[in-house]
Amino acid sequence: MSMDRIHAVENISYTILQEMADEFEKAEAYVHLSSVARFSFMLAQKRGENAELAYIAGSLHDLYAFTHDRKEHALHGSRLAFGILKSLNIFKDDEIDAIVTSIRHHSDKKRVHDPLSEILKDADVLDHYLSSPYQRQSEKDSLRLKGLSAEIGFKL
Ligand SMILES: [Fe+2]
Repeated sequence: MSMDRIHAVENISYTILQEMADEFEKAEAYVHLSSVARFSFMLAQKRGENAELAYIAGSLHDLYAFTHDRKEHALHGSRLAFGILKSLNIFKDDEIDAIVTSIRHHSDKKRVHDPLSEILKDADVLDHYLSSPYQRQSEKDSLRLKGLSAEIGFKL
């Protein structure tokens, strides 16, 4: 049986994470990418957007940050994602473009971009919050969390 597209990407993403030296950081990376992928999927379903592409964006979005460094990781990460998606040969150009665009925008939490970018940003903020719920959130994160609370119907 052939792998579905979500797992084809996740496979590559997780294989790349294997090169991380620090075991604790590596575990954090797996959890964060898989959590953001799943939250993105849910938010996309809720908002009537493409949930498959949202999942894939989530599972790639911080790959560069975890394996290289965080400086301009949204831009570098979008290029890394482009190479991975192109090489798989199972995505149309407009699908690759949508995923890559959302990754390029994902650090820009104060601005509002296209729906897929917004899903990725909100899912990222949601996982930052849920990975340390008793820590004070940054101003831009708490604004998004407020919106998310209202959308999903319970207090975050
Ligand atoms: Fe992230």
